[in-house]
Amino acid sequence: MVSKAVIPAAGLGTRFLPATKAVPKELLPLVDKPALEYIVEEAARVGLTDILMITGRSKTAIEDHFDRVPEIEAALEKKGDAERLARVQASSELAQMHFVRQGEAKGLGHAVLVAAPHVGNEPFAVLLGDDVVDERDPLLATMIAEQQAHGGSVIALMEVEPEWVSSYGVATVEDAESHGPYAVKRVRDLVEKPPPEEAPSNLAVIGRYVLSPTIFEVLRNTPPGRGGEIQLTDAIKTLAESEPVHGVVFDGRRYDTGDRGDYLKAIVKIACEREDLGPDFWAWLQEYVAAGGPASTR
Ligand code: G1P
Repeated sequence: MVSKAVIPAAGLGTRFLPATKAVPKELLPLVDKPALEYIVEEAARVGLTDILMITGRSKTAIEDHFDRVPEIEAALEKKGDAERLARVQASSELAQMHFVRQGEAKGLGHAVLVAAPHVGNEPFAVLLGDDVVDERDPLLATMIAEQQAHGGSVIALMEVEPEWVSSYGVATVEDAESHGPYAVKRVRDLVEKPPPEEAPSNLAVIGRYVLSPTIFEVLRNTPPGRGGEIQLTDAIKTLAESEPVHGVVFDGRRYDTGDRGDYLKAIVKIACEREDLGPDFWAWLQEYVAAGGPASTR
């Protein structure tokens, strides 16, 4: 049974400076909700309501976001704004949140290792805050079901253009049995951020994992890898030598909100699809494009 989720949120957010000088990058909004709240919602939707966030210095605002705010709630109640009140309260009711600090920024593998005492001896999910998966696409539920069917660990893979492989962990795979909507592969090898000419495939690791607790023992013995950091990819590669590791090949909607261009695209898509804001925003967007986009004078 998978019941716990780990969300690493200790990164510095350098790509979004200066916006992230004082605001954690995980709290940058996608329209009016922080990216991180989408991630917590995704975990809670599949029953992972015990959530451990790995944070660091300057991240106290994350804890505040998932807490109650009596002053704001009282003000909204007084105004009779029930809808906004419900949205403010939602983040504190989603899950049972726990927080632990990473201490030193020694890489994603190290961040996951910090979760060991909380997770104990059961399989658990890891959700990376930069990857937002559309709620209509059941990636995490499928990964949990595949983990139950195959045992071991399950990672999420996605086909990317060959020029992008150097931004990801890249997998060597063989076909395996699928029990759900996505193709499933047996992972034979993994390499973290290879130069394009050395990449074994264009199947990139994206930010969802369902991991066997054996990963902690492997991480304790994983030396620093690419960038001098302890890489989760390297540990999963070692794990695959002794336990099954499968990859679910996702072909749905995913936004890399750690990339400024993708972050903007995510906001535009979410805004267009929102019932309250969508119709007006979509009409404006079409006018803006028709008027020449950046060349428009209105
Ligand atoms: C991390 C992982 C990488 C994975 C990526 C997915 O890299 O190390 O293997 O492909 O997340 O988003 P990061 O994006 O933190 O540099």
